[in-house]
Amino acid sequence: MQIAIMGYGVVGSGVAALIEKNNKSIARNSLQPEMKIKYILDLRSFPDDPFGHLVISDFSQIANDDEVSIVVETMGGVHPAYEFVLECLKKGKSVVTSNKELVAVKGCELLKVAEENNANFLFEASVGGGIPIIRPIHQCLAANEIEEVAGILNGTTNFILTKMINESMTFEDALLLAQQNGYAERDPSADIDGIDACRKICILAALCFGKHVYPESVHTEGIRKIALADVEYALSWGGAIKLIARAKKLESGKITLSVSPAFVQKSCLLASTDDVFNAVLVRGNAVGDVIFYGRGAGKFPTASAVVADVIDCAKHIDKRKVFGWEDGNADFVADYLDNETAFYIRLITSDKSKTIASLTETFGEFDVLNRSDAPENEVAIATKAVREGDLEGKLASVFADEIASVIRITDY
Ligand code: HSE
Repeated sequence: MQIAIMGYGVVGSGVAALIEKNNKSIARNSLQPEMKIKYILDLRSFPDDPFGHLVISDFSQIANDDEVSIVVETMGGVHPAYEFVLECLKKGKSVVTSNKELVAVKGCELLKVAEENNANFLFEASVGGGIPIIRPIHQCLAANEIEEVAGILNGTTNFILTKMINESMTFEDALLLAQQNGYAERDPSADIDGIDACRKICILAALCFGKHVYPESVHTEGIRKIALADVEYALSWGGAIKLIARAKKLESGKITLSVSPAFVQKSCLLASTDDVFNAVLVRGNAVGDVIFYGRGAGKFPTASAVVADVIDCAKHIDKRKVFGWEDGNADFVADYLDNETAFYIRLITSDKSKTIASLTETFGEFDVLNRSDAPENEVAIATKAVREGDLEGKLASVFADEIASVIRITDY
């Protein structure tokens, strides 16, 4: 079996190295005499690399070579990855990708093209890096109606929050450290503004609920505004702040999605998912809650998922794996403002007793939170569940000048 790799960055080079390292077992698991890399597409040259002699810069060599049956796309970004993948699928080649942006934006279309051409389009590595999550949802949990899927889907932000929680590091210092460690995306805003997690929850939502969800329809907030004060209040509340991406089915049949920082109870495994690790909770109506945990990024964890898909494609050459979802529509996603959830609110006030009285009038019941060394003029509370749209209106009209932080509180 001959394959090509498009994009020789961290993940692409991990795929090549893993195929060489575990060649015997990979060939055996693929039911093939051997698994051979024929081309690596990249505009750069790699003269000192053991696979440098395979590097080409002309995509048409891959597209026009009938010996290449499986193409791995690890270029990232939508263009030209989309055009290249489309052409490979149209030529009947199966494609494996780790590119969450491509799947989140073009997944539905590419799955259809794969079906029309009796090829496979697989993307286990696009969510959760090395964590098995796409195939388990599609196969092992197939007997369930999925009610909710939620998780920590971005390692960089989880690393930053872990440093803030465990070492009281400021957001700025923790971001710098994440960048020095090479965790952040090419554009760090894709991580810290929640864009990467948003793409991943779109893929999981489509898989769980059967229709494509486009990233622009997901309410997305990142972690830039999280202060150490909020981290301390989350601890005193009994949990931790995590960047949570979630998609939930409502009784109306619509789904509600969001990516935002959220308080998670200490007893939930998501709260103790630290550093660059990811965790995904899937709530099925038969199985209950299942949590998948592991390395969500990195060269070999991601290559592990990519190569497993290559093996699956090799075993299913000329046999379609039935896998896909319908195109999405605007009606499928509920307005996040109609979502009901509890909130943590931190205010800086010039008159504490007047603010507490206004909070009582506005929210009725709430819990007051404490932290050591809080400034005299600071008030922090945890509300009961409230409609997001109502909360936004109340905060804007009553507390506009006093708001320091507003963070959702999950029920797990
Ligand atoms: N930047 C991503 C993360 C890489 O930090 O999780 C894996 O998608």
